[in-house]
Amino acid sequence: MFVVSKLIIEGGHPLEGELPIHGAKNSALPVLAATLLCQGQSVIHNCPGLSDVDASIQILRHLGCQIYREGSTLTVDSQHVSTCDIPDDLMREMRSSIVFLGAIVSRMGCAKLSFPGGCELGPRPIDLHLKALRQMGLHIDEHYGYLDCKVDGKLKGTDIALSFPSVGATENILLAATVADGTTVLTNAAREPEIVDLACYLNACGARIEGAGEGTITIEGVECLHGAEHTVIPDRIAAISFMAAAAVTGSKLTIKEIEKDHLGQVIPMFEEAGCRVRCNGSQLELQAPERLRPIKMVRTMPYPGFPTDAQALVMAMVTLAKGTSVFVENIFESRYKHVGELLRMGANIKVEGKVAVVEGVRKLYGAQVEAPDLRGGAALAVAGLAAEGITQLGGLHHIDRGYESLEKSLSSIGAKVKRI
Ligand code: UD1
Repeated sequence: MFVVSKLIIEGGHPLEGELPIHGAKNSALPVLAATLLCQGQSVIHNCPGLSDVDASIQILRHLGCQIYREGSTLTVDSQHVSTCDIPDDLMREMRSSIVFLGAIVSRMGCAKLSFPGGCELGPRPIDLHLKALRQMGLHIDEHYGYLDCKVDGKLKGTDIALSFPSVGATENILLAATVADGTTVLTNAAREPEIVDLACYLNACGARIEGAGEGTITIEGVECLHGAEHTVIPDRIAAISFMAAAAVTGSKLTIKEIEKDHLGQVIPMFEEAGCRVRCNGSQLELQAPERLRPIKMVRTMPYPGFPTDAQALVMAMVTLAKGTSVFVENIFESRYKHVGELLRMGANIKVEGKVAVVEGVRKLYGAQVEAPDLRGGAALAVAGLAAEGITQLGGLHHIDRGYESLEKSLSSIGAKVKRI
């Protein structure tokens, strides 16, 4: 039976207390795919309990891995990988299933999978992934929405220059190059902290990757990898979500288990909005002002620029600022789907192509809204916390992809939120 659940948010209650941040979704997913490269057992700590992680586990099990979960620790035994296909329904489960391509080909010399599903943020092509893998010697036959991939012998290390620093393509190339013949030099690589985390795990397994986190990454292919123990980095986007929630409700909140360096471009934005942000080790304390100030210009960029995943969250926050904020979305084509829903709550936002202009209003009002995608959904929850009255937020399957029980986290810091 298909059950529709909603979050019922009673707005207007300040948040207080402390909240720990779970492990990063965007790190856990490629690290789990990377366990396929190992002959043996890996122990991955701080794996968040998210539906996208469950989808990765299903894919690994389908491929022949044994997986045990104890709390947030996953033990993956990939000794006996037996197949190189991913069924269509599992591929469609999450966009990032494509990162399994490099891992499966590395391990099995072949892969058969369909294009990853949906178009949540507009078209999400995988041409850069495929071009790079072809350069490494992979034969890819594309037909009826399927990718039939084979390599004669082993993949070959080579020089690859990405025309855009795609996160997923960089991950696929790391996975393919780690056990390839020879050295791969990747230029214009993505520099996200999640890339560094993936390289850290692979290096702990015996890979030789240098330069992760920089524009050029050098990967010297090794014969094989062994398993390793690894702890996933904290989820920087989850941290920003709770910072936005605290800021918009005029609250003081302590967020624990963060990595301050990963929030470099984001903290100044909160300060521009009038928040006082103090970091102490892995703790961040945010004190919101009585009324938020606008943020002049938020331009989403590849890391270390302002993350596109935080755009909707910060936009929800400045809907209540005193003045005009401007957003320019440079990464994805259709990443303003939350705007229509924010308008239902009384926000004043105009969108023209990549640009959104937010005129701050005095009040938001509770409304029935629908999460259009993962971060857009979280942004609506943020708006609901500050709105007058009740917000009914649907489309929770999007939110559950990236937040471990959002309602429990928010309730633990004083919000009035329940799931029905
Ligand atoms: C990852 C993140 C996602 C984040 C995004 C950008 C994961 C699981 N997801 O997604 O949360 O929003 O990075 O920081 O880590 N592109 C192409 N061709 C390709 C690949 C990408 O044109 O072959 C374009 C995309 O359409 C998009 C841009 O490049 O416009 C960035 O995409 P990419 O960095 O690849 O994002 P993802 O890895 O899909």
